[in-house]
Amino acid sequence: MLKQDALKGKNIIVTGGGSGLGKAMTKYFLTVGAQVAITSRNLEKLKNTAKELEEETGGKCFAIQCDVRNYEEVENMCKLAHKEFGKIDVLLNNAAGNFISPTERLSSNAFDTIIDIVLKGTKNCTLALGKHWINEKEKNKSVLNIVTTYAWTGSAYVVPSASAKAGVLAMTRSLAVEWAKYGIRFNAIAPGPFPTKGAWDRLLPGDLKDKFDLSKKVPLKRVGKHEELAHLAGYLVSDYSGYINGEVITIDGGEWLQGAGQFNLLEQIPEEMWDMLEAMIKQKKNS
Ligand code: COA
Repeated sequence: MLKQDALKGKNIIVTGGGSGLGKAMTKYFLTVGAQVAITSRNLEKLKNTAKELEEETGGKCFAIQCDVRNYEEVENMCKLAHKEFGKIDVLLNNAAGNFISPTERLSSNAFDTIIDIVLKGTKNCTLALGKHWINEKEKNKSVLNIVTTYAWTGSAYVVPSASAKAGVLAMTRSLAVEWAKYGIRFNAIAPGPFPTKGAWDRLLPGDLKDKFDLSKKVPLKRVGKHEELAHLAGYLVSDYSGYINGEVITIDGGEWLQGAGQFNLLEQIPEEMWDMLEAMIKQKKNS
C-alpha cells in the first residue's frame, strides 16, 4: 500500500513481534524500509522470526527478550533497542494474552495475568519510552496500540481482556492529548477476527472453530487477512498519518456494528418475503 521506502529512517519496537499479527506487521514495516526490534518472552522464537524476516525482506530485524509485565525488563529492552538503532521512533504495543472462561471460574491470579500483560505491559512500554523521548526532547514519535472492538462494547467470557483493552483505549486517547506537546502521537487499531494460531487455539479451542464460524458474524462474510491489518498499521506509524492523533480505527468487516444494530437481524429475511411484509405494513396504514 505504501511507497517502497515509506518507513525508511524509522526504527520501530513491536512487542509480541515473534508470531501472529505482530510478526505480520513487522514484516510489512521491514518491507517498506523500517528497522524493527521485536520483543517477547521466548528469545529462541524471536531470533528465528528475525532471521526469517530479514531473509525475506532484506531489512534489519533485532530480537530482544522481554516480559512486558516487568518494568525493569522493559527499561532494559528500550536500552538495548537504542544501543542497536541509535533512536526509536515508534512503539507498537501488540503483546497480549487472552483465553475464554466464565469469569467466576477465574482465579485472582488468572485475571491479573491478562491485566498485567495487556494493560500493565502497554503502560510499562509507553512510560519507559515516553519518558526517554520527553527527557531527550525527541519529536515526531508515535505509539500504536492494538485494542479490540469489545474495548468499548465489553464482552462476556473474556472479561479480563475486555477490561484491560478498555484501559488501553483510555490511555491512547488520554496521552494523545497530554503528550501531543512533546511531539508524540497516539492511535489504536481495533481488529475484528484475524485468525492466528496463538489466539485462535485459546479463544476457539478444539471443534469450537467449526461450531462458531466467526466469518458468519461479519457482514463481508470473511475473516481479515493479515496484510490488511499490516497495511493499516504501516499507514498509522508513517508520516502520512501525521495529523491523526487519538483515533481508534476499526478493521473488522463491519462485525461489531452487525451485532449492535437493533434491526440488523432482519438480514435473515429472504428477498421474496419483503413484498409480503411491505403489503402488510401498508395495509396497517390504511386501516
Ligand atoms: N482458564 C482459566 N484459568 C487459566 C487459563 C484458562 N484457560 N489459562 C491460564 N489460567 C490461569 C492459570 O491457572 C494461572 O492461575 P493460577 O496461578 O491461579 O492457577 C494464571 O492463569 C496464569 O497462568 P500461567 O500459565 O502461569 O501464565 P503465563 O504468564 O505463563 O501465560 C497466558 C499467560 C495464560 C495468557 C497464556 O495464554 C499466554 O502466554 N498467552 C500469550 C499469547 C496469547 O494469549 N495470545 C493471544 C492474544 S489474543
